Amino acid sequence: MILYDEQLIERSQAHIDIEDRAYQFGDGIYEVIRVYHGRPFYMNEHLKRLERSAREIRLQIPYSLEKLNALLVELIQQTGLTEGNIYLQISRGTAPRNHAFPKEARPLVIAYPQPSQRPIQELQQGVSTITTKDIRWLRCDIKSLNLLGAALAKQEAVEQGCKEAIFIRDGWVTEGSSTNIFFVREGKIWTHPANHLILHGITRQIALSLAEKLQIPVQLEAIREEKIFEADECFMTSTTMEICPIVRINGQWIGNGKPGPITRQLQQEFEKLIE
Ligand code: PDD
Repeated sequence: MILYDEQLIERSQAHIDIEDRAYQFGDGIYEVIRVYHGRPFYMNEHLKRLERSAREIRLQIPYSLEKLNALLVELIQQTGLTEGNIYLQISRGTAPRNHAFPKEARPLVIAYPQPSQRPIQELQQGVSTITTKDIRWLRCDIKSLNLLGAALAKQEAVEQGCKEAIFIRDGWVTEGSSTNIFFVREGKIWTHPANHLILHGITRQIALSLAEKLQIPVQLEAIREEKIFEADECFMTSTTMEICPIVRINGQWIGNGKPGPITRQLQQEFEKLIE
C-alpha cells in the first residue's frame, strides 16, 4: 500500500509520468518521518516544514495538512508499519517539459512505508565521517528533491568506508549530506545557525531543546574547518540516525575516539522520547 494523490493504492497500480517534474527537474519537496511503535514521531513538525518548503518553492499542496496527516496515519495502520520511516514527496506535477511552472498541473503527493530498525550499533559506537566541499545551492533550508550535491557527497563518504560526509562551505562547517552536525568543546555545544545554508532539522531542534533541559549551553555559530579537531565531542542528528556520535573525521579521532559524555546524555534523553 502507498499513498498516491489522495488515495491508498497498491504500489503496482501507481504510475509516474515521464514528464513528472520531480523526475525531470527535481521540482518538488519531501519529508522523511520516523515511526516508532506504530506511531509517527513529530509528525506535525514535519508537516509544518513541508508546508514551508512548499511555500518557498511556490508549490500548492493539493489538499489540507489535516487531510494529509489523516491519510499518513491510515497508511501506517493499513501497512502495519511499526518501526521504520514514511517517505513523503510532492512533485509539482506532470506537464509538457518546460522550465517555467505549468499553469494546470496538479501537484502529486506520494508516500510509502520503509520498514527499518534503529541504527543501534552506530548509536552505541559512533561513526566515521569525511569532510567535503559544500557544492549545493544556497537554499539548503528547503527540503527539495534536488539531492545531487548530497548524493555525490554521501557516495564519496561510502567509498571511503564512512557513514557521512560533513560539508564545508568557505571554510565553515555547515551540515552533513543528510544530517545536522554538532561539536562540543569545554562543555558547550556548537552548531550552525538555522539559516539558508542548512536544513532546519527536526532532530536538530529536538537535540537543542534537550540541551536546554539539561542546562548545557549552546552556541548557534558555525565552526571553522581548522577548529574541528579542537572539539572534545562531535555528533550528528537526523530522523533516521537520531543523535549519533561521530568519533572520526578524515581518519582522525575526535576527543578520545569514543562517544563523549554530553552526546551520551542527549542520547539518553532522546531515548525517553521514543519509548
Ligand atoms: N535527511 N540536513 C540534511 C541535508 C538532511 O537531508 C536532513 C534529513 C537533515 C536532518 O533533518 P531531520 O532531523 O529533520 O531528519 C539535515 C533525511 C532524513 C533524508 O534525506 O533521508
